[in-house]
Amino acid sequence: MDDDMPNEALAELRTKHLGVWGVVQIAAGTGLAVYAMWVGLLQPGFRKVPLKLQVPYIPASKAQVKNVMSLMRGRTGGLVDLGSGDGRIVLEAYQHGFAPAVGYELNPWLVQLARFHAWRAGHHGKVSYRQEDLWKIDLSKCKNVTVFLAPSVLSLLQKKLQDELPNDALVVAGRFPFPDWNPCRIEGHGVDRAWAYNMQAQPHHTSQKNQKPQCKTV
Ligand SMILES: C[S@@+](CC[C@H](N)C(=O)[O-])C[C@H]1O[C@@H](n2cnc3c(N)ncnc32)[C@H](O)[C@@H]1O
Repeated sequence: MDDDMPNEALAELRTKHLGVWGVVQIAAGTGLAVYAMWVGLLQPGFRKVPLKLQVPYIPASKAQVKNVMSLMRGRTGGLVDLGSGDGRIVLEAYQHGFAPAVGYELNPWLVQLARFHAWRAGHHGKVSYRQEDLWKIDLSKCKNVTVFLAPSVLSLLQKKLQDELPNDALVVAGRFPFPDWNPCRIEGHGVDRAWAYNMQAQPHHTSQKNQKPQCKTV
C-alpha cells in the first residue's frame, strides 16, 4: 500500500477549485438537509395550521423563564403555557406551586421531550403536556396563561384571549409584547423581557365577571 496516497489526495483536494457545479451541489445538499430537519423534527403536527400561524420553536432563555415566573408571583391555581416547546415553563410553574400545570404543543417530538424532562426532574405525572392546537383549545377556565410566540400571531391571539379568558386571568408574554394591550408589570431587559397583562384592564375584554384586577396597568 502506498502510504503517501491519502496525503496526496488531501493536497489535491486543497488545491482543486470547487467550481460552479461543486458550489451548486453543496448548496443543494445543505438546503435539503435543512428542509429535512424542518419537516422531520420541527414541523410535524403543523400540517393543518395555516402558514401565517406557524411559529417556530425557540426555547425561552433561563432569564426569560425567571422573569415570567417573577410576574406570576402571588398567583395561585393552574397555569397553561400556549406553545409549550420542551416544557420548561410548565415545569418551572409546577415547581413554583402551580397545579395543574399544562402545556399545549403541536410538535409531537417536543411533547415527548417535555415529558422526558418532567420525568427526569421527578415530576412525571404531575405536569401535563398535550399535543393540541392552541387555537382550538377552550381557555374560559384558565386563570394563569403564559405565551412565547411570534409577533405575527399575537394580535390574533389577543382576540382569542379577550374573548375567552375570565376577568381575573393574568397573561404573561415572553420576549414579544401584545400589540394593543397595556401591561401591568414588566420584568427584565432585551430578549429576556416579559410583560404581565391583567385581563380585566384590557380594552374589548368581553368577559363580564365582576372581579377586581390583580395589578394596575403601568
Ligand atoms: C417560541 S416557542 C416557545 C416554547 C416554550 N413556550 C418556551 O418558552 O420555551 C413556540 C412554541 O409554540 C409551538 N406552537 C406554535 N404554534 C402552535 C399551535 N398552533 N399549537 C400549539 N403549539 C404551537 C411551537 O411548536 C413552539 O414549540
